[in-house]
Amino acid sequence: MPVSIRQIGPCLAGEVAGIDMRRVLTASEIADIHAGMDKYAVLVFHNQDIDDEQQLAFTRSLGEIELTLNTGLRAESEYRLPPTFADVSNLDKENRPFARDDRRRLFALGNRLWHSDSSFKTTPAKYSLLHARKIPSTGGNTEFADMRAAYDALDDQTKAACEGLVCEHSQIYSRQQIGFFDLTDEERERFRPVRQTLVRTHPVTGRKSLYLSSHAGAIVDWPIPEARAFLRDLIEHATQREFVYSHKWAVGDLVIWDNRQTMHRGRPFPAEEARDVRRTTIAGDGPTALQEAA
Ligand code: OGA
Ligand code: MN
Repeated sequence: MPVSIRQIGPCLAGEVAGIDMRRVLTASEIADIHAGMDKYAVLVFHNQDIDDEQQLAFTRSLGEIELTLNTGLRAESEYRLPPTFADVSNLDKENRPFARDDRRRLFALGNRLWHSDSSFKTTPAKYSLLHARKIPSTGGNTEFADMRAAYDALDDQTKAACEGLVCEHSQIYSRQQIGFFDLTDEERERFRPVRQTLVRTHPVTGRKSLYLSSHAGAIVDWPIPEARAFLRDLIEHATQREFVYSHKWAVGDLVIWDNRQTMHRGRPFPAEEARDVRRTTIAGDGPTALQEAA
């Protein structure tokens, strides 16, 4: 069956028909998905009844997997999924929802802020693939904002102000914004900031985009309050509804997004209900900026 894609969001997001992730993809299907990602930045696939192995195989057919070991607060013995997955669920190892005040849950609430995955790593993520295994009775949408359209809509003066800027990203900064400061010295060391350019150019389409994320908490050579105010204005601009697609999940949905061209955020849902969503991630090509000398 040929792959077809129908646009479902305002300027991003396509819904794909004709892919069955239980099968090995053909070269032409893989090419169609990459072309769809370049165009729509977010692709939605429905009714994909796949297990972890099939999600991994599908992910690997699109690129090299990024491991997500040691990026959260779960100890290795507390992992529910292998390190080839990011466990975006609210569940402990026994598949029970975390208690409301569990610090692993509170840290994970950082995903409710607009962000780009792994922008806190020197080589940040290319694609993220999120598969829904169990969803709550209400809420829990994931929203996506188009950073290409957001860039295009900036006035020339702001575009010029952004050009060449380098931001510092850390999970410490995103958690500070929601009042979560409860990190150990080891975690602070593990989460130390990395540098990312503020304007990115897509390697295939040549389109520029704003590389924003709530992990960004500083701009190199800028005073912190000025940097934070500037970044806050940009995020406010970039997440206006005209740039946003909101995904309402059904079990079996798999959504792929391009972290180089979009931001996303999770929306609230009842804390006592299980939301089992599992993310695999494709690594980016390399750093976006020179890092500070160690
Ligand atoms: C993610 C993420 C938001 C959500 O998977 O990276 O931020 O809605 N998810 O679960
Ligand atoms: Mn995320």
